Amino acid sequence: MNSKILVTGGLGFIGSHTVVALQEKGFDVVIIDNLSNTSIDVLGGITKISQKTPVFENFDLRDKGRVKEFFEKHPDIDGVIHFAASKAVGESVINPLLYYENNLASLIYLLKELNKKEKPGFIFSSSCTVYGQAEELPITEDAPVKKAESPYGNTKQIGEEIIADTCKANPGFRAISLRYFNPIGAHPSAEIGELPIGTPQNLIPYITQTAIGEREELSVFGDDYSTPDGTCIRDYIHVMDLARAHVVALERLMENKEEANYEVFNLGTGRGNSVLEVIQSFEKVSGEKLPYTIANRREGDITAAYADTTKANKVLHWKANLSLDEALKSAWDWQKEVKRRAETEN
Ligand code: WQD
Repeated sequence: MNSKILVTGGLGFIGSHTVVALQEKGFDVVIIDNLSNTSIDVLGGITKISQKTPVFENFDLRDKGRVKEFFEKHPDIDGVIHFAASKAVGESVINPLLYYENNLASLIYLLKELNKKEKPGFIFSSSCTVYGQAEELPITEDAPVKKAESPYGNTKQIGEEIIADTCKANPGFRAISLRYFNPIGAHPSAEIGELPIGTPQNLIPYITQTAIGEREELSVFGDDYSTPDGTCIRDYIHVMDLARAHVVALERLMENKEEANYEVFNLGTGRGNSVLEVIQSFEKVSGEKLPYTIANRREGDITAAYADTTKANKVLHWKANLSLDEALKSAWDWQKEVKRRAETEN
């Protein structure tokens, strides 16, 4: 009998790639997604790649009654990977209550239902944003968690504390928080990828939409930072490497019952790249010249962040294998596929 895993936000960017990886590893997957930030077409993409259709339940995790009903209907859920959350930094500053309700109420309702089970396993989608601008680079899991720069970042910090306290009070409850650096790229099949709705906030989708002609030019938010070329440095990790890390973390939760019941891991490549280096890499792999201008700094941006991945390497036996070039090539192939689909539909 295969283990049955709930993936919330499983039709989203990282969620969909993780569902593919889980199904390819033999897990049975149930997805809960309210489709607020994705398309139902992603379900077909997951099915096409992994030759298996996950069970899909379309409801909002803020509906406490529905969450309770779900766990009554699926008493055999062995583990949960929780991606479902609002994740736009800028939007969270404008609408903090949306973020505190959506990201925290949903989490609490899930944990309360899970806590009724024997030895539940829970994986939380967290973010390097909890570190703010770290004093030391690369960033280890022991780096201080700083006052969040946005309500979005605060929901990740508070979320981790809620989970840690739940594990402390319930020794049978096992959880892992995964702090992502900058997830980018798409499945090599170009069947699934990042689907930003509206104007992309993140660098890579803005680059690919500019290169495909949907955007005039990229604005590089500042070139006067204290970095070699003046632009911000980030740790861009291929979403395929990230998806694999979730499977490995889940297997750890379900196998090693005697380990600490709450752990945190940084998920990055361990390498930092500047915005200009990303542009250079993109032009190389795509063969496209990218129009860009240097603009003012973006409020809330930190200068540099990249992961110390020693703990994930040693404890999870996981390491990011894919390069920046490979990630950008996959993002570009996906962008071209999105355009092809749009043209076919019209
Ligand atoms: C990367 C770099 C920008 C757009 C955020 C969240 C993090 C996670 C990923 C959710 C920065 C520069 C960007 C543009 C630019 N979110 N940039 N022009 O801000 O590092 O991380 O998104 O899970 O939690 O904090 O990612 O892609 O927005 O920016 O110059 O049009 O690209 O200034 O230096 P960020 P990003």
